[in-house]
Amino acid sequence: MSKTYKIAVVAGDGIGPEVVREGLRVLKFAAEHWGFDYSLTEYPYGTDHWLATGGENGGEIFPDEAFAAAQQHDALLLGAIGDPRAPVGLIERGVIGKLRWEGGLYINLRPIRLYDSRWCPLKDKSPQDVDMVIVRENTEDAYVFPPEFVDKGGPNEIASQPMRYTRAGTERVIRYAFELAMTRPRKQLLLIDKANAVRAHDIYTRVFAEVAKEYPEVKTDHAYIDAACMWMVKNPEWFDVAVTTNLFGDIITDLGAMVQGGMGVAASGNINPGKFSLFEPIHGSMPKATGKNTANPVATINAVGMMLDHLGEKQAAAAVEAAVAALLQSPKVKGLKAGLHSTTEWGDMVLEQLQLGLATSAAALSS
Ligand code: IPM
Ligand code: MG
Repeated sequence: MSKTYKIAVVAGDGIGPEVVREGLRVLKFAAEHWGFDYSLTEYPYGTDHWLATGGENGGEIFPDEAFAAAQQHDALLLGAIGDPRAPVGLIERGVIGKLRWEGGLYINLRPIRLYDSRWCPLKDKSPQDVDMVIVRENTEDAYVFPPEFVDKGGPNEIASQPMRYTRAGTERVIRYAFELAMTRPRKQLLLIDKANAVRAHDIYTRVFAEVAKEYPEVKTDHAYIDAACMWMVKNPEWFDVAVTTNLFGDIITDLGAMVQGGMGVAASGNINPGKFSLFEPIHGSMPKATGKNTANPVATINAVGMMLDHLGEKQAAAAVEAAVAALLQSPKVKGLKAGLHSTTEWGDMVLEQLQLGLATSAAALSS
């Protein structure tokens, strides 16, 4: 009997619904061809829903009951959250933040892979030079604690929000990164922090050194975040797996997304290993492009690929990745920027490529 996965969907704001629509076409194709079933539960949360239910006067962000139900799924596919009609950060923190922090999704996995030299803004860099994974801690740091304002608006105002790290939180992300490094040919792991200025990062220095003793095969290295940004642009080929804190991981993965060709392709997994996890494109909601069918859904399709991998559908996951890679290497792709191909056309092209991949493997089997 084939497996049935329970998938929750939060299409969210802006271009979210459009890119998710194409991602779900790929999921459907995968289910049909790799023999699994799935059910979808669509949740309406995002800025429109918040406004429709009252906005500032008690609008719903992510009610606890729905939040608990969403976590009973095997995975959640998220489009994008963020809209200028809501106060800055309110819906982001209430939907993505809540899922990550209260849902215990402690790994934010962000692969950065260049599929074709044409998409790289760096001179003389090719796909061999850009193939890395950033492991971003996802439940701690400056993100999770509420800000504190003393004398708000006054001349002596003080605003603060702690960068706080626990041993348990630090150790589990570092351990995950070592395990991941072990699965990769180069077995390299870089710790990125700012321990020279933020002395609280000493916890990363110490825990990394301790865990490293258990993985003698992994070649370890260290860089401060400022230098890591510089190296990523100058020598991306030096990166294999890197582990870093939540805030730095957020920043450096936007840089990484550019190195791999832009926000149109960069995907991420918010993972609690073996448990309910969330998959999403790294990009935002692009409010101005809403409903225009111009957004590039490849990042969401890559997120579906990561979700398939997480669910254990390894063949389907590999096929999606291979299809995206082959498509982005093909001359028919004019560019990755929004509007060069419509959102629907991107979905069509990925599905065609998946079909082609199936036909090629069938031909190889019968020859
Ligand atoms: C990301 C985003 C979020 C973050 C925002 C939307 C809160 O930039 O997933 O990288 O900062 O984590
Ligand atoms: Mg970000």
